[in-house]
Amino acid sequence: MIKIAVLGYGTIGSGVVEVLERNCEHIAQTAGEEIAVKYVLDLRDFPNDPIQEKIVHDYKVIEQDPEVKVVVEAMGGVEPAYTFVKGALLAGKHVTTSNKALVAKHGAELLAIAKERELNFLFEASVGGGIPIIRPLVTSLTADVVEEITGILNGTTNYMLTKMSAEGSDYHEVLKDAQEKGYAEADPTADVEGFDACRKIAILTSLVCGKTVDFEEIHTEGISKITPIDIAYAKAMGRSIKLLATSKLSDGKYYAMVAPFMLGAEHPLYNVNDVFNAIFVHGNMLGDAMFYGSGAGKLPTASAVAADIVDIVKHLNRNIMISYSGEKMELLDIKKAENRYFVRAKSDEKKVREVFENIAFIKIKEVLDEVAFVTAEMSEETYLKKAEELGDIIQMIRVN
Ligand code: HSE
Repeated sequence: MIKIAVLGYGTIGSGVVEVLERNCEHIAQTAGEEIAVKYVLDLRDFPNDPIQEKIVHDYKVIEQDPEVKVVVEAMGGVEPAYTFVKGALLAGKHVTTSNKALVAKHGAELLAIAKERELNFLFEASVGGGIPIIRPLVTSLTADVVEEITGILNGTTNYMLTKMSAEGSDYHEVLKDAQEKGYAEADPTADVEGFDACRKIAILTSLVCGKTVDFEEIHTEGISKITPIDIAYAKAMGRSIKLLATSKLSDGKYYAMVAPFMLGAEHPLYNVNDVFNAIFVHGNMLGDAMFYGSGAGKLPTASAVAADIVDIVKHLNRNIMISYSGEKMELLDIKKAENRYFVRAKSDEKKVREVFENIAFIKIKEVLDEVAFVTAEMSEETYLKKAEELGDIIQMIRVN
C-alpha cells in the first residue's frame, strides 16, 4: 500500500480524496498498488467529516514521515506551496500539483530537483482541468515541432461568456454562479483578467519549447471589459467571443498572448461552451489536433491529479522525463503579430475610411451613436497607430 498526503482540503484536495475513495478498487488495479491517504494538511478542522482523523496542521509531520511517498499539493498560490513542494521533493517524496501559479513560476527548478533524485513532479491538472494535455504534449507529440497552441484555458470565463451570450445574464451574477460551482480561483480576478490562462499558456509553451516562458512577459487581457453590446455585435456577425490563450512559433521564437477574440463558426473553438476548455495544437508533421473536456471543477480536476498519483505509483523508482530548463524563452514582440480587429469608436464612417482601408462596417439596432467595423489584417503596431489617429475608441476585440 502506498501512503500519500494531501496539502489543502479545499475544492481540489477534497475532490482528490473523493476520487481515491470512490474509484479505489479501479485505481488500485491500474496503479498495481492500493493508495491510502495518510494525512490531509489544512489550517481548518472538519469536526463533522471523517477526514478529521487525517487532518494535520503542521506540514513538517508530512515531510518527516518516511511512510509518505507521494505529496498532493492542492493549496493554490505560490507560497507556502513552493516551500512545501520543494521540501517534499528534497525529502525524497514524489509530488503532483494542480497549481498553475506554482508551476508557471517554479516549474523548471522543481522538475530539475525531481529529475536529479529519480522522483516525479507531475502537474497534469494545472492546465485544462480534467483534460489530458500535458501528458500528450510530452509523451505523444514529441516527434513534432509544435507550431501553435491556442486554447480556451479558463473554465470560469468561458462559462461566463457562454451564459452572458445565451441568456443575456449579468456579469456579476454569472461570476457568482461560477464561484459557487467551484470553477473560479479563490480570487476570481485571476480568471476574469486572464492571469490564470496566461500561466497555463506559459506552462504549455515551456513544455514544447524546452525553456521557461516567463508568464509576466505574455501580453494579457481579460474579459472584464466585455459588455452586452460587444456580445450583440458578435451575434450580429455570427461570431462568438472567447478568451483565447495562444502561442505561435515564428522563426524559432514564440508570440504568446491572452485576449478575447471574436471567432467565426468555422473556428475549431467557436462551439466550446460553458466550463469546457479546448486546446488546439498544430504540429509540423501531425497537422491539427484538438483536446476537449471539463476545464475546471472539483471532480474533473481531481481526476487528473489522481491519474498523476497512479502514474507516480507506477514509476516509484524512476523519473518520468518531463523537463524544460530555467533558461528564459525570448518571446517575440506582440506588436509584430498580425490580426484583424473589431473596433467600436465615437466617430463617423467618413473619418474611419480616411484612417483605415478595407473595412467592413457593422450595424446593430441597439446602438446608434457610434461606429463599429472590422479592419483588414494588420500588425498590432499598425493598428495602434491608426487607432490613435482615429481617437475615441470604445472597444477593440481581435477577430479570428
Ligand atoms: N479557475 C480555473 C478555471 C480553475 O476557471 O479554469 C481551473 O484551472
